[in-house]
Amino acid sequence: MRLRRKKGTKEWLQEHDQLIILEGRKLRGKWQERAKGKPIHAEFGMGKGGFISEMSARHPEIHYIGIDRYDELLRRSGEKAYEVHEQYGRGEPDNLSLVLFNIEHIEELFAPGEVERIYLNFSDPWPKKRHAKRRLTHPRFLRKFIEILNERGEIYLRTDSVSLFEFSLNSFADLGLRTVEITFDLHRDGTPQGHVMTEYEAKFVGQGMPIYHCRVLVGSEAVATYEEQVRAAWEEDQAAR
Ligand SMILES: C[S@@+](CC[C@H](N)C(=O)[O-])C[C@H]1O[C@@H](n2cnc3c(N)ncnc32)[C@H](O)[C@@H]1O
Repeated sequence: MRLRRKKGTKEWLQEHDQLIILEGRKLRGKWQERAKGKPIHAEFGMGKGGFISEMSARHPEIHYIGIDRYDELLRRSGEKAYEVHEQYGRGEPDNLSLVLFNIEHIEELFAPGEVERIYLNFSDPWPKKRHAKRRLTHPRFLRKFIEILNERGEIYLRTDSVSLFEFSLNSFADLGLRTVEITFDLHRDGTPQGHVMTEYEAKFVGQGMPIYHCRVLVGSEAVATYEEQVRAAWEEDQAAR
């Protein structure tokens, strides 16, 4: 993502240390304290931060963490977060942390079980085969994600790239993970209710492109809850016949 650099970004980030985390490693194992015991949902590669800002304003019961490796994007996301929380009359975005970090080393940012949900929204597809290892759904990344997720842990994947989607479904299967809610056109019947679009998604949807989506059940409780819901829906269906 190419961005024009604003003046004073480094200073801006340092001045907003309630929201911006420049030395995330220091919080490893202490995220629950910062999140005040709330579940932690993280977007890996948040870009300009529209999604994470909107989600955190709508869901004060969750602590959101947006991660990107470019400081300019952290600033854009920070400015966006203040703007969106203001619109919601929420004051300071106190259930949001924006972290400058390379996901390559994610196990140095989070201790095992610290995260409940990971959003992979429009991750770079790295279409060349020789770059497959750079895709965030390559098993080498997924193994790290499984480690940092808790028993209710899930991964939500959204992409415009059919090749990344296919690759990801295979990676999940290779690691024995259960993938549900697989859709090849998330917006076919209109945007789902309560759905928060990302910047990339808005652009692709505007161009009429299909969006691929799935949810991956990682933790044992996530699997059990899903199975319970499926059983309850089946029983309801039977009772109505
Ligand atoms: C294509 S953009 C998607 C942005 C946003 N999620 C959206 O849907 O609008 C991918 C983002 O992931 C970030 N990213 C890619 N690899 C990363 C890594 N290893 N560590 C941190 N951020 C990364 C990029 O800087 C970029 O902002």
